[in-house]
Amino acid sequence: MTSRKPAVLVTGANGEIGHSLVRRLAAGGANVVALDVREIDAACKPLCSATQVGDILDFGMLQRLGVEFEFTSVFHLAALLSTRGEFQPELAHRVNVEGTLNLLRLAVESASSSGKAVTFLFPSSIAAYGIADPKQRAAAGRVREDEHLAPQTMYGCNKLYGEHLGRYYTHHYRRLAADQQHPVDFRSIRFPGLISADTVPSGGTSDYAPEMLHAAARGEPYACYVREDIRLPFMAMPDAVDAIMALATAPRASLSTHVYNIGAFAPSAGEFAALVREFFPKAELSFSPDVLRQAIVESWPADVDDSRARRDWGFKPAYDLRRTFSEYLVPGVRRRYGIA
Ligand code: SER
Repeated sequence: MTSRKPAVLVTGANGEIGHSLVRRLAAGGANVVALDVREIDAACKPLCSATQVGDILDFGMLQRLGVEFEFTSVFHLAALLSTRGEFQPELAHRVNVEGTLNLLRLAVESASSSGKAVTFLFPSSIAAYGIADPKQRAAAGRVREDEHLAPQTMYGCNKLYGEHLGRYYTHHYRRLAADQQHPVDFRSIRFPGLISADTVPSGGTSDYAPEMLHAAARGEPYACYVREDIRLPFMAMPDAVDAIMALATAPRASLSTHVYNIGAFAPSAGEFAALVREFFPKAELSFSPDVLRQAIVESWPADVDDSRARRDWGFKPAYDLRRTFSEYLVPGVRRRYGIA
């Protein structure tokens, strides 16, 4: 028996997904322990049972948290994203791979002392894919989970390996003495680009879509760093958080794999800009492609096949592109920037 308080751990709590996920978990009654390298956002703090400023590479700090709390689930969101990772690839490897390994070790320690497997939610990414050239990209269509897995960024390599680590800990790592189960129940979603009304991402390559919208709402000009015709899958943040919760709580027996694609809409950058202009007619948007970032998006699929997620755990996004704008993004950014 343990007297530690049961809790869920969220790493990268200040990040784009963390921001919304902490709220959702707290609203559902979870004892949330929020961890980030920066001071936890003031709005988030009151929702958490505990907050910790620290580096996921500091295993001693993670172990101290594990002494205080019995982690039943870990939502490991902390990462260095794809553009940032190309400028500091070795640092990206340390944070994204060694950091993930540290969290898996913490999950094993939690499971060993409670005698129960720990659910481990890992956001992977369309960056796990790598498509060689535009011809192959056009031919690839909606890419399945087991196709085109030759990522061209350090971040993509790290995410793909993180998925493999999760599979290893779930199916091959030594079993718990208590019930002979494996200690970690790893579940991962390969997210498309995400768009939030509340936060602007940093260091990613799909950031152009949220950056366009937030710049328009703030009345600032924006030069998009990818070509107008490039197409990528995207999703509204509420659907992303719903998906995390649905996968985290799905019965284990219903899951046929440990990693799932999901998608909602796949506009070109130009189509996205046209919608921003429709809602913010004064938006000053232009296109000024950056060679590195254009090459990264060209290596990612134009769309994904998410039929496994739909079949296994009922994934179904509530927001198509127009509804994302009219019912979520536009009212949200208007509130955020105080626009009447
Ligand atoms: N949004 C991420 C990035 O652009 C991809 O997962 O790096």
